[in-house]
Amino acid sequence: MQKMITRRKKTIKDIDVRGKQVLVRADFNVPLNEDGTIADDTRIRASLPTIRYLCERDARVILCSHLDRPQGTVVERLRLALVANRLSVLLDRPVAALHDCIGPEVESAVAAMSGGDIVLLENLRFHPEEKADDPAFAENLSRLAEVYVNDAFGASHRAHASIVGVPEHLPAVAGLLLAKELDAFARVLQNPERPFAAVIGGAKVSDKLGVLENIIPRVDLLLIGGGMAATFLASRGYGTGASTVETDRLDDVERISAKAAELGVRLLLPRDVVVAESLDSGTRARVVPASEIPDDLIIADIGPEAASEFCRELAECRTVVWNGPMGVFEVPEFAEGTRRVAATLANLHGTTVIGGGSTADAVTRFGLADKMTHVSTGGGAALTMLAGKPLPGVEALEEAEEP
Ligand code: 3PG
Repeated sequence: MQKMITRRKKTIKDIDVRGKQVLVRADFNVPLNEDGTIADDTRIRASLPTIRYLCERDARVILCSHLDRPQGTVVERLRLALVANRLSVLLDRPVAALHDCIGPEVESAVAAMSGGDIVLLENLRFHPEEKADDPAFAENLSRLAEVYVNDAFGASHRAHASIVGVPEHLPAVAGLLLAKELDAFARVLQNPERPFAAVIGGAKVSDKLGVLENIIPRVDLLLIGGGMAATFLASRGYGTGASTVETDRLDDVERISAKAAELGVRLLLPRDVVVAESLDSGTRARVVPASEIPDDLIIADIGPEAASEFCRELAECRTVVWNGPMGVFEVPEFAEGTRRVAATLANLHGTTVIGGGSTADAVTRFGLADKMTHVSTGGGAALTMLAGKPLPGVEALEEAEEP
């Protein structure tokens, strides 16, 4: 029995936001450079449609987010002022960064706002109550607004105060980014055009078991790459050299392979692989058949024959979901498999949904993100969706009326 995706939720377009105080939970958890500057502002840009929509309707926009994992204390380099500055440039209007996210000073600053003004509250995770979903903290946040908007797809798998606590106190709807993410996953998981393929890679099979279990009954074709291919190859009796094999997951992998066979899903493993002594740049790389991996070498990428086979198969598909790179794409010597899959999907006449995290990083690095139907802004949240599990942050929102 296939698991159901969550029911459609109300969005900011289903309610009256004009002139209202609106608390928007965004995911501004952006990667930072060593000097503290923003390394990638994709998540900030992705929040702009919701912010613009609200400003155009004279709402008073109160943004909030976490940044990194400050463990419940104030960490100077994780203040959100740097995000407020970037937002201000992108929106071409002032965005005031407040010094806390709750309390009398924040309440007075919010009370002084006019229609169309934007403020950004301080990093929610400076307070341990955020992660603990503390009811008083959630209530204090909710006092700032008349309406709550969740636009933080990337954090919606976390049952934290700003995600699940605040919606208990306010009318709670989805922002435009959250709605777009949910629609993209629903499109592939509920009603895919066929043939439908899933490309699953990444380092560890244990991170992807839920995804594999949920996706197999839905797809026509399953392609396995990345470090996790070693566990699949080992389960079929291949030697995998010095690659990490998750021996405690061999039974799961066998069960998944058996399920694919039973359902008539074609499951392809790489027929050749790039191997090396280490995964560092500058290491000598070799291509070997998957059946002849030398004892002292590690799988670092899928090989050229495997990449050709995967790309040939994918080119025939009408829907592809991709989660997990084919190799260590950050190292140029081991990037080719991931690059070729990305290039094939970029040219596909069909729907391509890229799970977040490192797969999104890869297509962005190759300059192909805007050629995909959807590149998710969520890592853990995308995995949760693909595993067919509900997102607590989405469950907490009001349901839309049936058409
Ligand atoms: C993410 O980057 O995946 C989200 O912002 C959630 O962050 P977290 O894993 O620290 O909860």
